[in-house]
Amino acid sequence: MKHLLKLSDLTREDILSILNLADQLKFERVNGVQKDYLKGKKMGLIFQKASTRTRVSFEVGIYELGGYGLFLSSNDLQIGRGEPVQDTARVLSRYLDGIMIRTFEQQEVEDLAKYGSIPVINGLTDYAHPCQVLADLMTIREYKGSFKGLKMAFIGDGNNMANSLTVGAIKTGMSFAIACPEGYEPDAKIMEWARENGEFLCTTSVEEAIRDADVVYTDVWASMGQESERLKRAQAFEGYQVNAPAMKLAKPDAMVMHCLPAHRGEEITEDVFEAHANEIFDEAENRLHAQKAVMVKLLK
Ligand code: CP
Ligand code: NVA
Repeated sequence: MKHLLKLSDLTREDILSILNLADQLKFERVNGVQKDYLKGKKMGLIFQKASTRTRVSFEVGIYELGGYGLFLSSNDLQIGRGEPVQDTARVLSRYLDGIMIRTFEQQEVEDLAKYGSIPVINGLTDYAHPCQVLADLMTIREYKGSFKGLKMAFIGDGNNMANSLTVGAIKTGMSFAIACPEGYEPDAKIMEWARENGEFLCTTSVEEAIRDADVVYTDVWASMGQESERLKRAQAFEGYQVNAPAMKLAKPDAMVMHCLPAHRGEEITEDVFEAHANEIFDEAENRLHAQKAVMVKLLK
């Protein structure tokens, strides 16, 4: 494993080994016995979109491992003024030990890895959000003990989260069902792969997707970069909400997860969100541990 660009590049063993290390790092942090696994290592953190969790968990994570993180906003970088990613990659490779990038096009992340000579981590693109899903898998295992026999239901847009969750769920042996309106399905190639490699369902029916689910996941109807489609999407996604009547169809002990930020009253109701706040904020915390594990794997 040289980079973390998307989960489909990882084997099931890669994923489990990251999760195991994440559990270990969480334990060491809680008990105050963490070592400087990445002493003196420098991570560049490039952001072309807003972020709360990804930014803070990467900055704190590299600091806790004994390294140093540089927050690089595209507003200030030459990349924001059109300097090619091929050149940015080669320049940053001379200064840094690793790069995390949050951007729009998946191709930009792939190119950064291709032209640079240091590990690249995808901190979210329009296509994928692998760091989030590693933290999600870690959280599911904490709550449920294992992935065996679990059904994950995703209610909402077939976006970056849906793409990465599909891959993460199928690779760890869960079944995956998404309910979304027509025209808002996940990536076609990912769906095809999921059907061939596990149990996958894409339906327009929330009831069908959520029935007997162990894990119920949702995300915003309009992602970053889709602000102009917000009204149109609010109409298209009406009814695609995680609410109390829908939760009645899931297993009684079903978890509810959200990558955050959440839009209460849209994809999730306030009461369901607050009833599952423990899971949701453990999930947010686990970004820190999961990403520390990824950085140690790639940079050590
Ligand atoms: N879930 C997530 O990636 O949050 P941020 O956009 O705040 O980083
Ligand atoms: N789908 C959302 C996820 C945010 C973490 C977005 O891309 O904006």
